[in-house]
Amino acid sequence: MEKKDDLKFELEPEDGLKVLIVENNKVDSGLLVKMVEGISSKVDMIVVAESLKECLQCLDKNEFDIVLLDLNLDDSVGVATIHRIKEKRPFLPVVIISGMEGDEIEDDIVDSGAQDYLHKGRFNLKDLNKTVRFAIGRMRTEEKLKEVNTKLVQSEKMASVGQLAAGVAHELNSPLASIITNLHMIAENLTHEDNPTLIDLTEKSAKKCRDIVMSLLKYSRGNNMLEVCEVNINDVIEEACELITYQLEGNGIELVKELNVVDKIKVNTDEMQQVIINLVLNARDAIKEVKEGGKISIKTSQGDKTVTVTISDDGEGIDKENIGKIFDPFYSTKDVNRGTGLGLFTAYNIVRSFKGHIDVESKKGRGTTFLLLFPAC
Ligand SMILES: Nc1ncnc2c1ncn2[C@@H]1O[C@H](COP(=O)(O)OP(=O)(O)O)[C@@H](O)[C@H]1O
Ligand SMILES: [Mg+2]
Repeated sequence: MEKKDDLKFELEPEDGLKVLIVENNKVDSGLLVKMVEGISSKVDMIVVAESLKECLQCLDKNEFDIVLLDLNLDDSVGVATIHRIKEKRPFLPVVIISGMEGDEIEDDIVDSGAQDYLHKGRFNLKDLNKTVRFAIGRMRTEEKLKEVNTKLVQSEKMASVGQLAAGVAHELNSPLASIITNLHMIAENLTHEDNPTLIDLTEKSAKKCRDIVMSLLKYSRGNNMLEVCEVNINDVIEEACELITYQLEGNGIELVKELNVVDKIKVNTDEMQQVIINLVLNARDAIKEVKEGGKISIKTSQGDKTVTVTISDDGEGIDKENIGKIFDPFYSTKDVNRGTGLGLFTAYNIVRSFKGHIDVESKKGRGTTFLLLFPAC
């Protein structure tokens, strides 16, 4: 007989394994709980749900490493159950414990996005151990791959869309300038009956177009004309924050700075200030969406040959499916008068032009952290 200890496996992360069993038959679920307890010394939590509804509620309440799922529930039968779970947690491994037989159902299960399946009553501790371990491992690899792929697509897109946008900006720049000048002249010669608000509104719109064009032109010009020097990023942050304290105070938002001693970095001060302001104002907007008050933290820290700036907020956070889009030009969730969708696009390009790196971590409903990394001088 196999010794139980031979079957144990080490799981990352350090926390123990968290398993959700979805099974409406109490005898079956009891057996499964016993087996799961046997597969690893690091089982932290086993929860049994008896229906799809209960399963979805459990997923809302807790984070799990894996779901062991029966496909014959009272409120859901077959692969539809898997789809419902995947909708909620796309990267949660699902292993089917199925009483159904036949190639067809097996094909369906694999196509549905489940990681693996085991036939009810026909697997032992070793099979379960292997299946669970592989399912979690495969899912983690898949998640990593997807992340890397998103980043690759992102930088490709940035290069091509950026070029296109810059070209359009060049074309639009002079007609816009003449529209604004002409509007000015018309406004000066207006009589009372002529409805001056209409002209006003038109001028505002034209100016907004001009702002967009200017941002794009700045991006396309590159930074070869800008003065780049060794600066202390803490000074840049202090100055940027001073410029926007009024806007934060007006919303009751607390700005917490933790500026540590760091090496100098090679950047253009004005552009870096613009990046910091963009990120902090975005943080403010994200907080305003969900509450009064709130907190934005800016921290600098010295790493091994790098200087890091983190800007965190406790605002609305960003959906997983949208996080890949936020650096795209013109991507904005704000209404037309408030957002241009160029803030992060510009920040991304500025940071990259100084050989830096920008990254984001966010959880919907919890908040967002932007990370800026620069090579130290
Ligand atoms: N700190 C943040 N928290 C939540 N969402 C954010 C944050 N920063 C940026 N975003 C999202 O990214 C989008 C793009 O940001 P940005 O390029 O600055 O454009 P804009 O602010 O004009 O909308 C925002 O509309 C918002 O949906
Ligand atoms: Mg913005």
